[in-house]
Amino acid sequence: MKKSSILLCLFCFIFIASCIENQFQNATVNLASGYQLYEKNCSNCHQTDGSGLAKLYPPLLNADYIKNNPTAIDSIIKYGQKGSIIVNGIEYNIPMPGVKNLSDFEIKQIASYVLIKFNKLDSLLIQ
Ligand code: HEC
Repeated sequence: MKKSSILLCLFCFIFIASCIENQFQNATVNLASGYQLYEKNCSNCHQTDGSGLAKLYPPLLNADYIKNNPTAIDSIIKYGQKGSIIVNGIEYNIPMPGVKNLSDFEIKQIASYVLIKFNKLDSLLIQ
């Protein structure tokens, strides 16, 4: 094999490897699809900016509840949540139904979006 074709092969290999790695990173945290899924499944109640609605729907934006329970969000999305809770000093007590028809992957995308965009908890997601 000529030296130039060995170099070409090496270049292709590095190029393909870096594409695979990029795809993997995008699959882990994809804020654009997190945003779309959030809009579709959560913003009716929690609002697009995550600020919640009066005393009915608690905020997800800068929410002490999320900061104190950052790993609970996946199961809240999947199974819902009921009973009295206090978020940023205000009591909420309306049951949230679990959001059906979401894959675990989609739940991760939404959870990442809420943790990063609304609560700046990026460090929790870098594994
Ligand atoms: C039908 C309205 C509704 C929808 C849709 C909804 N929620 Fe909720 N959510 C609520 C209510 C009401 C509570 C408070 C439950 C309680 O009082 O125990 C809540 C509580 C929460 C909490 C814990 C409290 C807080 O503010 O941190 C999180 C996190 C949360 N929701 C995330 C989500 C996410 C993410 C989605 C979309 C996948 C979603 N919710 C969809 C109504 C809703």
